Amino acid sequence: MSLTTLIHQLPKAELHLHIEGTLTPELMWCLADKHGITLPYKNIEEIRQAYLFEDLQSFLDLYYAGADVLRDEDDFFELMWAYLCRCNEQNIVHTEVMFDPQTHLHRGIEFGVFMSGFTRAIDKAKDEFGISVYLILSFLRHLPESDAMETLHIAQPYLDKVHAFGLDSSELGHPPSKFERVFTRVRELGFKIVAHAGEEGPPSYIWEAIELLKVDRIDHGVRCQEDQALLDHLKEHQIPLTVCPLSNLKLCVVSDMKQHNIKWLLEQGLRVTVNSDDPTYFGGFLNENYQAIVEALDISAEQLKQLVVNSIVSSFLPQEDQTRIITLIEKIYQAYAIE
Ligand code: HPA
Ligand code: ZN
Repeated sequence: MSLTTLIHQLPKAELHLHIEGTLTPELMWCLADKHGITLPYKNIEEIRQAYLFEDLQSFLDLYYAGADVLRDEDDFFELMWAYLCRCNEQNIVHTEVMFDPQTHLHRGIEFGVFMSGFTRAIDKAKDEFGISVYLILSFLRHLPESDAMETLHIAQPYLDKVHAFGLDSSELGHPPSKFERVFTRVRELGFKIVAHAGEEGPPSYIWEAIELLKVDRIDHGVRCQEDQALLDHLKEHQIPLTVCPLSNLKLCVVSDMKQHNIKWLLEQGLRVTVNSDDPTYFGGFLNENYQAIVEALDISAEQLKQLVVNSIVSSFLPQEDQTRIITLIEKIYQAYAIE
């Protein structure tokens, strides 16, 4: 069995995935046509060719523009369904999916429209594939905290469908401390918390996410390498980092996959996981992210297994589900190791 086959066969969890970042150029084209929207591209190939980014902001500009083709309940169903079909193909047994309500509310689309599209697809995937899906409601950090508070208020009737809250969008200039009050409220309501930090932002943003927002996981976090005390803290408390290798390459967080620090972080004893972030914009779903680091960084089968186990133990799944999946991972890994 090759490492590529092992990547495919291991049951995995994905913990850092923006549903709006799974919109394919084909679906974008089709929905634009359906709603009579004129895109600034002549064809699907031109959309694909526009996916060249210099940094996070250059990506976000295109990502928010792309999301404008999502208008009705069916569109949100199709988006989620297409991603969950990919999960099924890639042996992703559990996924924790971020969505950005403010992107849609600000375009006049009501909360119930996207939530019912998402939950219809999630229920279908549960029935047909046995995949479990948790939703993470993410606040946009380039907007004021009052807008996040207002979003939390609007979301109230739907909170039984939400497992956790997150923080994403333009990182530089928008530190976690800007959102301390809204996340205090979210914590009081009993939700898990994640936040993007240390993708482009400095280690101090990761400290703020831990100490002020009291996050359960850090999204990205790769700049922790610059702060030894932070590395020690992340290791001691086993705070998971949801690392996204192809995203880091496409957004020029690293210049070459061979320079990526994921293997180094794993070898330091940090709880790192592999994820796809915005797969249709960054050139690969989850298995392609594993494949990219295995090839560039000479990751062993045992390290690969550790990354996959990390994805399960870093998830918000109940303990008994985690144990069942890890037993299966160990069985498949043993079959590989004795070959
Ligand atoms: N960083 C911040 N915000 C985002 C990202 C990201 O990688 N993807 C989608 N929103
Ligand atoms: Zn992200």
